Amino acid sequence: MTGPDQTGNDQTGSSAASHCRSIVELGPQRVRHLLELTDHMAEVNRRPNPKVPALRSRTVCNIFFEDSTRTRLSFEMAARRLSADTMTFSVGQSSLNKGESLRDTIETLAAMGVDAFVVRHRSSGVPWAISRWTDAAVVNAGDGWHAHPTQALLDCHTLMSELSGSSPRRADLAGIKIAIVGDIKHSRVARSGIAAFEMLGAEVIAVAPRTLIPPHFSTPVTQDLDTILPEIDALYLLRMQSERMSGALVPDLSEYTMRFGLTPERVQRMNDNVVVMHPGPMNRGVEITVDPAELPRSVITKQVTTGIAVRMAVLFELLGSGAAQAAPETSTEVGFESQMEEL
Ligand code: NCD
Repeated sequence: MTGPDQTGNDQTGSSAASHCRSIVELGPQRVRHLLELTDHMAEVNRRPNPKVPALRSRTVCNIFFEDSTRTRLSFEMAARRLSADTMTFSVGQSSLNKGESLRDTIETLAAMGVDAFVVRHRSSGVPWAISRWTDAAVVNAGDGWHAHPTQALLDCHTLMSELSGSSPRRADLAGIKIAIVGDIKHSRVARSGIAAFEMLGAEVIAVAPRTLIPPHFSTPVTQDLDTILPEIDALYLLRMQSERMSGALVPDLSEYTMRFGLTPERVQRMNDNVVVMHPGPMNRGVEITVDPAELPRSVITKQVTTGIAVRMAVLFELLGSGAAQAAPETSTEVGFESQMEEL
C-alpha cells in the first residue's frame, strides 16, 4: 500500500490540502489556522444553542475499524453541531464480513454522496489509500501506530489555552517544556503530539523505558522522570497500549508505575503549576494512580471538550465554503462569519 513516507507526506498524487491526515502533512500554517478556527468553534459551543448551519447538506461518514468512545462520538457531535448529515459505518454488520474489499466498500459509500470520511484503522497508511479511491475529504482519526492529527491539535489548543489563563490564547508553545511519558513506541498520539508541540516551538522530552522508544527517534529521551519533574510545564501521560504489543516490553506493570506513573508521591514533589494531560482511555493504577480530579492542574476533561471544537474546525476547513483549497490565505472570512450564525 502506498501511503505516507517517513515525513508523513503523500506519495499518491492526491492533494494533501483537501485532507487532514497527519500533522506533518498539514504543516505549520494550516496547524495555526486550524487552532484559530478552533477558537471560533469553542465560542459556538459556549452558546445556549450550539448549532450552526455551516455544513448543511454535507455528509460525513465515520468508519472506525478499531474501538473508540471519545474520538468517534466527538466527530459525530462536531459534524452535527455544524448541521452536517452523519453516517456511521458499522464494520461488524457490513459486507466486509462477506469478503467485500475495503476499496469496494469505500467506493460504494462514496457513490451515496459522502463528502468526508473520518477513518480509524489498525494499519498505518489507510487514510492515504482511501483518498486515492474517492474524491471525498479524508480525516485520519488514528491509523495504526502512525498518526492521530486531531488529537494533537486538541492537545495543543488545550495546553495553549490553559497556559494563557484569562489572557487571550497564546499563539504558540515557545519556552514551554513538555514531558511525554510512557508507551511512545506504539502511540500515534505521541507521534502526532510531538510533531505538533515541536512545530509550535515547545521543547519535548520523552520519558520511557528503552523498550518503548521507537527506533530512529530524534526527540531527547530520559528514563528518569523524577529528575526532570521540577523543570517541566506539562506532563503528558500515555496509555500503555497492551493490545499493540507483541511481547512483554516492560517487566511488570507495578514496576512501570513505580518508575513512570503519576503517583501520589510524585504529585507531592511536582510543582502545582504543571499541567497534566492524558488522551484517554486511562489505565487507572498503571500510568496514573491518583484521581485526576484532585490534581491542581489536570486538563484531561478539557481535552475531551476541546476535541469537539477542533473536529468542528477540521470539518469546516475541509467542507465549509471557502474550504481547504483551505490554505488560510484563500479562505473567505466573510463566508465564515455568516456560516457561524445560529440556526
Ligand atoms: C488514543 C488512540 O486511540 O489512539 N485515544 C484517543 O483517541 N483518545 C489513545 C489510546 O488509545 O491510548
